[in-house]
Amino acid sequence: MARVIGVLSGKGGVGKTTLVSNLGVSLAQESKNVAIIDANLTGANLGLHFGLLSYPVSIHDVMKNGASLTDAIYKHPSGVDIIPASLSIEHVDTEPRNLRKSIDKFLGDKDFVLIDAATGLDRETLAAIDMSDEILLVTHPELPTVSDALRTKTIAEKYDKDIIGIVLNRITKEDELDTGTVSSFFELPVIGAIPEDPIVRKSIEAKNPVILSHPRHRVSNEIRKVSDHILGKEHEPKKDRGFRDRILAFVNYRKSIILPFIGKKFKAG
Ligand SMILES: Nc1ncnc2c1ncn2[C@@H]1O[C@H](COP(=O)(O)OP(=O)(O)O)[C@@H](O)[C@H]1O
Ligand SMILES: [Mg+2]
Repeated sequence: MARVIGVLSGKGGVGKTTLVSNLGVSLAQESKNVAIIDANLTGANLGLHFGLLSYPVSIHDVMKNGASLTDAIYKHPSGVDIIPASLSIEHVDTEPRNLRKSIDKFLGDKDFVLIDAATGLDRETLAAIDMSDEILLVTHPELPTVSDALRTKTIAEKYDKDIIGIVLNRITKEDELDTGTVSSFFELPVIGAIPEDPIVRKSIEAKNPVILSHPRHRVSNEIRKVSDHILGKEHEPKKDRGFRDRILAFVNYRKSIILPFIGKKFKAG
Protein backbone atom coordinates (compact mmCIF):
# COMPACT_ATOMS: atom_id res chain seq x y z
CA MET A 1 0.00 0.00 0.00
CA ALA A 2 1.42 3.40 -1.01
CA ARG A 3 2.12 6.04 1.62
CA VAL A 4 0.27 9.10 0.30
CA ILE A 5 2.00 12.23 1.61
CA GLY A 6 0.56 15.70 1.04
CA VAL A 7 2.99 18.62 1.00
CA LEU A 8 1.19 21.71 2.28
CA SER A 9 1.87 25.19 3.60
CA GLY A 10 -0.46 28.09 4.12
CA LYS A 11 1.15 30.73 1.97
CA GLY A 12 2.30 30.27 -1.64
CA GLY A 13 5.89 30.52 -2.76
CA VAL A 14 7.32 28.81 0.31
CA GLY A 15 8.75 25.86 -1.64
CA LYS A 16 6.12 23.08 -1.77
CA THR A 17 6.67 22.26 -5.45
CA THR A 18 10.45 22.49 -5.07
CA LEU A 19 10.29 20.10 -2.12
CA VAL A 20 7.94 17.63 -3.86
CA SER A 21 10.17 17.42 -6.96
CA ASN A 22 13.40 16.97 -4.97
CA LEU A 23 11.93 14.71 -2.30
CA GLY A 24 10.43 12.50 -5.01
CA VAL A 25 13.86 12.09 -6.61
CA SER A 26 15.52 11.54 -3.24
CA LEU A 27 13.10 8.71 -2.36
CA ALA A 28 13.56 7.20 -5.85
CA GLN A 29 17.33 7.26 -5.26
CA GLU A 30 16.65 5.08 -2.22
CA SER A 31 15.12 2.53 -4.62
CA LYS A 32 11.56 3.48 -3.73
CA ASN A 33 8.80 3.43 -6.28
CA VAL A 34 7.55 7.04 -6.30
CA ALA A 35 4.79 9.00 -8.02
CA ILE A 36 4.32 12.74 -7.62
CA ILE A 37 0.99 14.39 -8.39
CA ASP A 38 0.34 18.03 -9.20
CA ALA A 39 -2.80 18.75 -7.17
CA ASN A 40 -2.39 22.49 -7.66
CA LEU A 41 -5.14 22.42 -10.26
CA THR A 42 -5.34 26.14 -10.92
CA GLY A 43 -1.61 26.86 -10.57
CA ALA A 44 0.07 23.81 -12.04
CA ASN A 45 3.86 23.85 -12.38
CA LEU A 46 5.25 20.58 -11.00
CA GLY A 47 6.07 19.16 -14.46
CA LEU A 48 8.02 22.31 -15.34
CA HIS A 49 10.56 21.54 -12.60
CA PHE A 50 11.49 18.47 -14.69
CA GLY A 51 11.23 20.05 -18.15
CA LEU A 52 7.87 18.37 -18.80
CA LEU A 53 6.39 21.16 -20.88
CA SER A 54 3.64 19.57 -22.96
CA TYR A 55 1.67 16.40 -22.40
CA PRO A 56 -1.45 14.93 -23.99
CA VAL A 57 -3.08 13.72 -20.77
CA SER A 58 -3.08 15.47 -17.39
CA ILE A 59 -4.74 15.03 -14.02
CA HIS A 60 -7.50 17.32 -15.33
CA ASP A 61 -8.39 14.69 -17.96
CA VAL A 62 -8.54 12.06 -15.24
CA MET A 63 -11.06 14.17 -13.32
CA LYS A 64 -13.04 15.57 -16.26
CA ASN A 65 -13.07 12.91 -18.93
CA GLY A 66 -12.58 9.80 -16.88
CA ALA A 67 -9.12 9.17 -18.41
CA SER A 68 -7.13 6.54 -16.59
CA LEU A 69 -4.54 7.84 -14.15
CA THR A 70 -2.02 5.51 -15.79
CA ASP A 71 -2.34 7.51 -19.05
CA ALA A 72 -1.29 10.67 -17.20
CA ILE A 73 1.98 9.19 -15.89
CA TYR A 74 5.25 10.49 -17.36
CA LYS A 75 8.39 8.65 -16.35
CA HIS A 76 11.42 10.78 -15.59
CA PRO A 77 14.87 9.17 -15.95
CA SER A 78 15.42 9.66 -12.20
CA GLY A 79 12.77 6.98 -11.70
CA VAL A 80 10.02 9.33 -10.53
CA ASP A 81 6.59 9.05 -12.14
CA ILE A 82 5.16 12.54 -12.70
CA ILE A 83 1.42 13.14 -12.94
CA PRO A 84 1.11 16.74 -14.11
CA ALA A 85 -1.90 19.06 -14.10
CA SER A 86 -2.95 21.08 -17.13
CA LEU A 87 -1.00 24.29 -17.66
CA SER A 88 -4.00 26.08 -19.16
CA ILE A 89 -6.90 27.34 -17.07
CA GLU A 90 -9.43 24.55 -17.06
CA HIS A 91 -12.64 24.38 -15.13
CA VAL A 92 -12.95 21.24 -13.07
CA ASP A 93 -16.48 20.17 -12.18
CA THR A 94 -15.61 16.82 -10.77
CA GLU A 95 -14.71 16.62 -7.11
CA PRO A 96 -10.92 16.36 -6.77
CA ARG A 97 -11.71 14.15 -3.78
CA ASN A 98 -12.50 11.31 -6.16
CA LEU A 99 -8.82 11.26 -7.05
CA ARG A 100 -8.08 9.19 -3.98
CA LYS A 101 -10.01 6.28 -5.51
CA SER A 102 -7.82 6.51 -8.64
CA ILE A 103 -4.67 6.69 -6.50
CA ASP A 104 -5.64 3.51 -4.66
CA LYS A 105 -6.60 1.75 -7.89
CA PHE A 106 -3.69 2.75 -10.13
CA LEU A 107 -0.89 3.81 -7.78
CA GLY A 108 -1.52 1.42 -4.90
CA ASP A 109 1.64 -0.52 -5.75
CA LYS A 110 3.88 2.55 -5.30
CA ASP A 111 5.91 2.98 -2.13
CA PHE A 112 5.17 6.71 -2.06
CA VAL A 113 2.73 9.09 -3.70
CA LEU A 114 3.59 12.73 -3.02
CA ILE A 115 0.87 15.35 -3.47
CA ASP A 116 1.92 18.88 -4.44
CA ALA A 117 -0.92 20.90 -2.94
CA ALA A 118 -2.37 24.29 -3.83
CA THR A 119 -1.94 27.34 -1.64
CA GLY A 120 -4.53 28.68 0.81
CA LEU A 121 -7.38 26.76 2.35
CA ASP A 122 -9.90 26.51 -0.45
CA ARG A 123 -11.47 23.43 -2.05
CA GLU A 124 -8.32 22.37 -3.91
CA THR A 125 -6.21 22.40 -0.76
CA LEU A 126 -8.84 20.64 1.32
CA ALA A 127 -9.07 17.95 -1.36
CA ALA A 128 -5.27 17.53 -1.24
CA ILE A 129 -5.43 17.10 2.55
CA ASP A 130 -8.31 14.68 2.22
CA MET A 131 -6.57 12.45 -0.33
CA SER A 132 -3.38 12.22 1.79
CA ASP A 133 -2.64 9.86 4.67
CA GLU A 134 0.22 11.93 6.02
CA ILE A 135 1.09 15.62 5.80
CA LEU A 136 4.36 17.53 5.54
CA LEU A 137 4.16 21.23 6.33
CA VAL A 138 6.52 23.69 4.61
CA THR A 139 7.11 27.20 5.94
CA HIS A 140 9.54 30.10 6.05
CA PRO A 141 10.83 30.90 9.53
CA GLU A 142 8.79 34.12 9.77
CA LEU A 143 5.67 34.77 11.80
CA PRO A 144 2.98 35.47 9.13
CA THR A 145 3.97 32.39 7.11
CA VAL A 146 4.16 30.23 10.23
CA SER A 147 0.72 31.42 11.34
CA ASP A 148 -0.78 30.46 7.94
CA ALA A 149 0.87 27.04 8.16
CA LEU A 150 -0.52 26.63 11.70
CA ARG A 151 -4.03 27.06 10.30
CA THR A 152 -3.29 24.32 7.77
CA LYS A 153 -2.05 22.11 10.61
CA THR A 154 -5.34 22.64 12.48
CA ILE A 155 -7.35 21.62 9.40
CA ALA A 156 -5.16 18.56 8.79
CA GLU A 157 -5.77 17.49 12.40
CA LYS A 158 -9.52 17.93 11.90
CA TYR A 159 -9.21 15.56 8.93
CA ASP A 160 -7.42 13.18 11.29
CA LYS A 161 -4.18 13.09 9.29
CA ASP A 162 -0.76 12.19 10.63
CA ILE A 163 1.51 15.21 10.43
CA ILE A 164 5.08 14.06 9.83
CA GLY A 165 6.75 17.36 10.66
CA ILE A 166 7.87 20.76 9.46
CA VAL A 167 10.28 21.57 6.65
CA LEU A 168 11.76 25.05 6.99
CA ASN A 169 12.73 26.51 3.63
CA ARG A 170 14.61 29.59 2.45
CA ILE A 171 16.41 30.06 5.74
CA THR A 172 18.60 33.16 5.97
CA LYS A 173 20.77 34.68 8.70
CA GLU A 174 18.22 37.48 9.16
CA ASP A 175 15.30 35.17 10.08
CA GLU A 176 13.31 36.18 13.14
CA LEU A 177 12.52 32.60 14.24
CA ASP A 178 14.96 29.79 14.94
CA THR A 179 14.29 26.10 14.41
CA GLY A 180 13.50 25.41 18.08
CA THR A 181 10.94 28.22 18.25
CA VAL A 182 9.17 27.04 15.08
CA SER A 183 9.13 23.49 16.40
CA SER A 184 7.54 24.62 19.68
CA PHE A 185 4.90 26.71 17.86
CA PHE A 186 3.79 23.65 15.88
CA GLU A 187 4.53 21.08 18.60
CA LEU A 188 6.13 19.10 15.79
CA PRO A 189 9.71 18.24 14.84
CA VAL A 190 11.54 20.29 12.21
CA ILE A 191 12.77 17.49 9.94
CA GLY A 192 14.63 19.63 7.39
CA ALA A 193 16.04 23.16 7.33
CA ILE A 194 16.77 24.21 3.75
CA PRO A 195 18.82 27.39 3.29
CA GLU A 196 17.97 30.18 0.87
CA ASP A 197 20.35 29.56 -2.02
CA PRO A 198 20.46 30.76 -5.65
CA ILE A 199 21.20 27.17 -6.74
CA VAL A 200 17.49 26.37 -6.26
CA ARG A 201 16.34 28.95 -8.79
CA LYS A 202 19.09 27.96 -11.20
CA SER A 203 18.08 24.31 -11.00
CA ILE A 204 14.42 25.20 -11.67
CA GLU A 205 15.53 27.23 -14.69
CA ALA A 206 17.63 24.26 -15.85
CA LYS A 207 14.57 22.01 -15.33
CA ASN A 208 16.63 19.65 -13.25
CA PRO A 209 16.00 19.29 -9.50
CA VAL A 210 18.94 20.43 -7.40
CA ILE A 211 19.32 16.98 -5.85
CA LEU A 212 20.21 15.68 -9.33
CA SER A 213 22.38 18.57 -10.48
CA HIS A 214 24.15 19.21 -7.15
CA PRO A 215 23.75 16.04 -5.06
CA ARG A 216 26.28 17.11 -2.42
CA HIS A 217 25.09 20.68 -2.00
CA ARG A 218 23.78 21.63 1.48
CA VAL A 219 20.29 22.14 -0.05
CA SER A 220 20.38 18.53 -1.33
CA ASN A 221 21.64 17.26 2.02
CA GLU A 222 18.69 18.87 3.81
CA ILE A 223 16.27 17.32 1.32
CA ARG A 224 17.88 13.93 1.91
CA LYS A 225 17.48 14.55 5.64
CA VAL A 226 13.72 14.85 5.04
CA SER A 227 13.59 11.65 2.97
CA ASP A 228 15.72 9.80 5.55
CA HIS A 229 13.31 10.88 8.27
CA ILE A 230 10.36 9.62 6.21
CA LEU A 231 12.18 6.32 5.65
CA GLY A 232 13.19 6.04 9.31
CA LYS A 233 16.82 5.97 8.23
CA GLU A 234 19.82 7.57 9.91
CA HIS A 235 20.97 10.65 8.01
CA GLU A 236 24.57 10.99 6.80
CA PRO A 237 25.35 14.21 4.96
CA LYS A 238 27.33 13.87 1.73
CA LYS A 239 30.47 16.02 1.80
CA ASP A 240 31.15 18.55 -0.94
CA ARG A 241 34.10 17.35 -3.05
CA GLY A 242 34.93 20.78 -4.46
CA PHE A 243 36.11 20.82 -8.08
CA ARG A 244 34.81 17.30 -8.88
CA ASP A 245 31.29 18.33 -7.85
CA ARG A 246 31.40 21.47 -9.97
CA ILE A 247 32.38 19.45 -13.04
CA LEU A 248 29.57 16.97 -12.31
CA ALA A 249 27.08 19.83 -11.86
CA PHE A 250 28.13 21.31 -15.20
CA VAL A 251 27.65 17.95 -17.00
CA ASN A 252 24.26 17.45 -15.30
CA TYR A 253 23.21 20.95 -16.30
CA ARG A 254 24.15 20.32 -19.96
CA LYS A 255 22.25 17.03 -19.91
CA SER A 256 19.14 18.70 -18.58
CA ILE A 257 19.25 21.28 -21.37
CA ILE A 258 19.96 18.85 -24.20
CA LEU A 259 17.93 15.76 -23.33
CA PRO A 260 14.40 17.24 -23.58
CA PHE A 261 15.18 18.46 -27.09
CA ILE A 262 16.28 15.11 -28.39
CA GLY A 263 13.12 13.63 -26.92
CA LYS A 264 14.76 11.10 -24.68
CA LYS A 265 13.86 12.60 -21.37
CA PHE A 266 10.39 11.21 -20.85
CA LYS A 267 8.92 7.84 -21.61
CA ALA A 268 5.18 7.32 -21.84
CA GLY A 269 3.79 5.89 -18.59
N1 LIG B 1 15.69 27.16 -0.75
C1 LIG B 1 15.44 28.07 -1.69
N2 LIG B 1 16.36 29.01 -2.00
C2 LIG B 1 16.12 29.94 -2.94
N3 LIG B 1 14.98 30.02 -3.65
C3 LIG B 1 14.02 29.11 -3.40
C4 LIG B 1 14.18 28.08 -2.42
N4 LIG B 1 13.06 27.32 -2.41
C5 LIG B 1 12.23 27.84 -3.33
N5 LIG B 1 12.79 28.92 -3.93
C6 LIG B 1 12.20 29.81 -4.95
O1 LIG B 1 10.87 30.07 -4.58
C7 LIG B 1 10.01 29.90 -5.68
C8 LIG B 1 8.70 29.31 -5.19
O2 LIG B 1 8.90 27.95 -4.83
P1 LIG B 1 7.78 26.88 -5.07
O3 LIG B 1 8.38 25.56 -4.78
O4 LIG B 1 7.14 27.06 -6.40
O5 LIG B 1 6.75 27.29 -3.92
P2 LIG B 1 5.22 26.83 -3.70
O6 LIG B 1 5.03 25.55 -4.44
O7 LIG B 1 5.08 26.68 -2.22
O8 LIG B 1 4.36 27.94 -4.22
C9 LIG B 1 10.75 28.97 -6.65
O9 LIG B 1 10.44 29.30 -7.96
C10 LIG B 1 12.20 29.21 -6.33
O10 LIG B 1 12.72 30.16 -7.24
MG1 LIG C 1 3.61 25.07 -5.91
